[in-house]
Amino acid sequence: MTIEVDAAGIWDSEAIADVAAATFPLACPPGTTADDVSAFVESVLSSERFAEYLTDPTRTVLKVTENDVILGYAMLVDGEPADPDVARAATLRPTTEVSKFYVLPGGHGTGIATTLMAAVVERARAAGRDALWLGVNQQNVRAQRFYAKHGFARVGTKTFRVGSQVHADFVLERDLRGAVR
Ligand SMILES: CC(C)(COP(=O)(O)OP(=O)(O)OC[C@H]1O[C@@H](n2cnc3c(N)ncnc32)[C@H](O)[C@@H]1OP(=O)(O)O)[C@@H](O)C(=O)NCCC(=O)NCCS
Repeated sequence: MTIEVDAAGIWDSEAIADVAAATFPLACPPGTTADDVSAFVESVLSSERFAEYLTDPTRTVLKVTENDVILGYAMLVDGEPADPDVARAATLRPTTEVSKFYVLPGGHGTGIATTLMAAVVERARAAGRDALWLGVNQQNVRAQRFYAKHGFARVGTKTFRVGSQVHADFVLERDLRGAVR
């Protein structure tokens, strides 16, 4: 199989929104209601929102594909973290948020996520960023294990609203200076 990672374009909005809607619930803790997931998907992960993200100069959406079929995506946001909890916890600058990082379940454990992460790191380094940061739900142990394997360290906590619920996240940071890996 040929796995490729490319920058997504506005023409990918609908296909990425479909992947986003299918994968977002996998990152939520048990107990998240279907209504809260739907509210989040509608307000943050719709094809209209992705069309905005894909034309925002501070954001980069990377898609991972096999034979042109999108299997996952990541969204990077350059700039100072808006959340004061994050700004305090993640101290390296200039930094980029890995705002979304999702692979469809059929691709878990296959190395597709590793390929996508390598592209995220390459793009951030090429843009002159010194660090990456992200928030991950405190109960999402699989993703935490994945990020730890890829050099992210836990530096703090923050909250994350999904519909009517406020979830507890860890803040993770990866230093991009120094040895390439
Ligand atoms: C997060 C994600 C991209 C990681 O990709 P992946 O292909 O699953 O990652 P890997 O298989 O390389 O690594 C996951 C690790 O967690 C381990 N793991 C799997 N399930 C686990 C569990 N329930 N508890 C603890 N560890 C677990 C795996 O064994 C593996 O570790 P290992 O390589 O040491 O054996 C993917 O799981 C995903 O898209 N998940 C749903 C969306 C999500 O949570 N995104 C992150 C939002 S912050």
